[in-house]
Parts: sequence; structure tokens; C-alpha cells
Amino acid sequence: MSDIQTLERETLSAISSAADEAALEAARVAALGKKGSISELLKTLGGMTPDERKANGPLFNGLRDRVTTAIAERKAALSEAALNARLSNEKVDVTLPPRPESDGTIHPVSQVLDEIAAIFADLGFAVAEGPDVEYDDYNFTKLNIPPDHPAREMHDTFYIAKQADGSRHVLRTHTSPVQVRTMLKQKPPIRVIVPGRTYRVDSDATHSPMFHQLEALVIDEKTHLGNLKWVVEEFCKAFFEIENVTLRARPSFFPFTEPSVEWDMRCDRSVPGKIAFGTGNDWLELGGSGMVHPNVLEMCGIDSKKYQGFAFGFGLDRMAMLKYGAPDIRSFFESDVRWLRHFGFAALDLPTLDGGLSR
Ligand code: DAH
Repeated sequence: MSDIQTLERETLSAISSAADEAALEAARVAALGKKGSISELLKTLGGMTPDERKANGPLFNGLRDRVTTAIAERKAALSEAALNARLSNEKVDVTLPPRPESDGTIHPVSQVLDEIAAIFADLGFAVAEGPDVEYDDYNFTKLNIPPDHPAREMHDTFYIAKQADGSRHVLRTHTSPVQVRTMLKQKPPIRVIVPGRTYRVDSDATHSPMFHQLEALVIDEKTHLGNLKWVVEEFCKAFFEIENVTLRARPSFFPFTEPSVEWDMRCDRSVPGKIAFGTGNDWLELGGSGMVHPNVLEMCGIDSKKYQGFAFGFGLDRMAMLKYGAPDIRSFFESDVRWLRHFGFAALDLPTLDGGLSR
């Protein structure tokens, strides 16, 4: 067998036995690199007589071409094998049931949200939603907070860059703009709750720049503060899973309600680090509420002579913190799975009123 045939056989065998891209590259350099065996062979053509060159040129070039093709083919085969290996390793069967030992648990905010939706569904409320990036008009103006109104200062707003038409969008500072959205597209009677994300420039143990609120809105022909109180009371009984709820009303001010009322619930904080609901001599702030201001109704296309309504806005994270004993709101958004596991809400345990909300 000639030297050239031996060289070809050895080179092709090195290529076909290369187990990965690095080995294949080493085989390529050994044959076709600057000092590779085939490159050296090609260099000898320069010192040959024209006749020798005529005889050897096609032989050498043919050898180089076959080796180049073999390398390209091996390379394609290797990368296909690597892809297939990845595909079969990383395959996920999404139809499998969740394993009981899986790490995933429901976040306390989601848990509380599911509980609250179940409670209000039972009272005949639908769930409404709106976008996190909101019109200034809906977040403020149509809620009876005109531009330059001092109440805007209370909200520590994140503003979005000006639009082409000069208007500003904001990250909604409360869920109340969804009241506006609901009234603009739905005729009374209206009964909705709006759980959702809200944003303010604020951060400490009890404030997070992103937090959650629970809004409620009722509009009908005969609604009054007594209805509002009853709904808050029924909600507290169901949510905190206690029978004896005592509420305290404090006069307050919100531009979108008149009169405005803040609600406190009786609680006991006499044991340090513990809070008991329904007994004791202490009060727990629930949040703001009131009868919807006639200006708001009119700006949202509802006849304020015929209809009135009430609304409230409570802190959802705050309720989760109180019910499930988390002292720092920031831990809600740190995505620490150990913290999540501590609460241990199983993915398939949906809260229901008859099954027990928190079990
Ligand atoms: N939007 C208010 C806030 O975030 C809370 C609030 C107060 C909502 C009174 C209401 C309400 O619907 O009636 O501070």
C-alpha cells in the first residue's frame, strides 16, 4: 500500500473515531493544519518537476478534498448526536401529575388571593382586573383627584416617560383605577373585587415598592354605609376564620369617597410576637373605604341621582402577613424557596368555604 493510501486510511480513521468536537479538531489540525500531514504533502508539489506535479497534484488534492468532506460530515453527526442527547435528557412530560415531594408551593399572596376570591364569589362578587401601567386619568383624575390636587402627593407615584401626545402613564398606585374601568364598561348593579399589584416609591419592613391591594366596588340603587359594614364584617369572619368580629369605624378622607371611613378590627396583641383576632383590647387597621363620591360616578358615566355605591381598598400582603404571621413584607418578594416551603401551601389545595379556607 502506498504512503498516500496509508495516510488517507489513518486520517479518515482518526476522523471517524473522534468522539467529540475537540478530538475532531485535533484530527483536523493533524491533517490540514499549517504543519499537518496533508499540508506538508501539498507543499512538496512546489519542488517537483512539471510531470511529477501533473501526476501527484490530483492525487494530493483529491486526498485533501476527501478528508475535508469527512471532517464536515463527522462534525454534523457529532452535533446532531449532542442535540439528541440534550433533547432526551431535558425532556419534560408536562402531562405528569405533580409529585408530592416537589419543591413548589403556593405563595402566601396567591393563597390569600384564592381565599378572598372564594369568600367574595359566595357574596356574589365577580373578579375584575386592570393593567399595572395605568392612565394618569384613571389612577387620579377620574377618581376625583385632579392634576395639582395635594392628594397626589400622598401616593409617591412611579411615573412612566411622557407619551407622544404629552400624556403621562403611571404604575398604578392603587387598585382604585379598576373601579373607573369597571364603571366605564359595565352598567349597575356592579359587584366586583379587584385583587392586584400596585406600586409606590417606598421600601421598609412594612412597605414594598410593589405590593398588592384588594379593592371592592358595589354600585346599585339602594346602597348605604350599613351594607358596607356588613360586607367588611362578613369578609373578616370568613377570612380570619372567626365568629366574633368587632369592627371600629374611624372617619377619614379619600377624594373618591364621601363620607370616607377606615376600619379597624378588634384583636389581642398582649402576648409578644402573637396576634389573636376577635378578642382583646387592641385594634388592627384593615384599610380605607367609603361611599363612592358622586363626582366619580358622573365622570364614569353613571347617574349619581339614581345610583350610589361603596368601595374599599385593603392591603392584600398585609392581610397575608397578619393571617399567616410574616413580619417583613420584603420577604414576600425575595423568592427564597425555604421561606415559601415554610408556609407549605400545596398546589392542589384550592381554598373553598365548605372545605375550610386555610385547612
Ligand atoms: N385607594 C386607596 C389607597 O390606596 C384605598 C381606598 C380607600 C380604596 C377608600 C377605596 C376606598 O376603594 O373607598 O390608599
